[in-house]
Amino acid sequence: MGHSAAVWDCREAVKISKDSHGIDQILLRNPQGASARVSLHGGQVTSWKNELGEELLFTSNKVTGKSPKAMRGGIPICFPQFGNCGSPELHGFARNKMWKFDDNPPPLPTSGSDGISFVDLLLKSSEEDMKYWPHGFEFRLRVALLLNGDLMLISRVRNVNSKPFSFSFAYHTYLLVSDISEVRIEGLETLDYLDYLSQKERFTEQGDAITFESEVDRVYLSSPNVIAVLDHERKRTYVVRKEGLPDVAVWNPWERKSKSMMDFGDEEYKEMLCVDGALIERPINLKPGEEWTGRLQLSVVPSSFCSERLGLDRIGL
Ligand code: BG6
Repeated sequence: MGHSAAVWDCREAVKISKDSHGIDQILLRNPQGASARVSLHGGQVTSWKNELGEELLFTSNKVTGKSPKAMRGGIPICFPQFGNCGSPELHGFARNKMWKFDDNPPPLPTSGSDGISFVDLLLKSSEEDMKYWPHGFEFRLRVALLLNGDLMLISRVRNVNSKPFSFSFAYHTYLLVSDISEVRIEGLETLDYLDYLSQKERFTEQGDAITFESEVDRVYLSSPNVIAVLDHERKRTYVVRKEGLPDVAVWNPWERKSKSMMDFGDEEYKEMLCVDGALIERPINLKPGEEWTGRLQLSVVPSSFCSERLGLDRIGL
């Protein structure tokens, strides 16, 4: 049920509760009834719903929450690596850490996330992580639910070291889809990509929109800042807008790999697609005192919206 703006109580906008494992989670809501949920574990968005209460992000049914690893679904934060790059933790440690509330974040340079509903989280370097990644950093994450129901994530990484460091990054976004074989991505045509199924060999995507009929594990390079994921069956289009994130990782494990993953159902590959705004090919090098910002904005619109209304025409779609 939607909420009427007239009776909206702004205390409803942000609510903190404990999940079944005693971990703080934050529920963001807007007056129209859209919502998002964020966990302090990993700073992970674990749910995003439209004003009808329909879930828009995939979460595996096999999730028990008992694992110290990030939950399979939602939006895990991959930092300071995407992949392993010598680190013991695939996709970095940030998604497996307990984050804190950031009570006094420095103001954002240009906001755009002034929706009524947001939370600021903070992760700092710990002694344990220093063993593998000896760099002092502060990672500030804002998760905002906008008035129109869009979900916005803004990540700021600051070097609080006395020497430079490099990192890569991804918002590992598990979109919920009706049937993977009915889904296509527009906006990545003709781009180069690294194929993680062929030792990161570089290929060039051919003309048409990307569709799915087998396992895909790729990083598309230097992509436009707006791409669209069309779900034909559900007549729904996800629009992914990004800034500071040149690459897009696309992943679906398909049948064989699904069976090898403990925290993923054998058939669940049919209802998910990871499309990550990311920074992978050219890691950012931050000097002492410098800060990097990467923004992701997810919208969902009926597929009848034409490209022009989405602003996709500007990038030639
Ligand atoms: C993808 C990687 O982005 O994430 C895959 O390219 C990996 O190789 C997948 O299997 C899921 O990773 P994880 O660590 O969440 O199982």
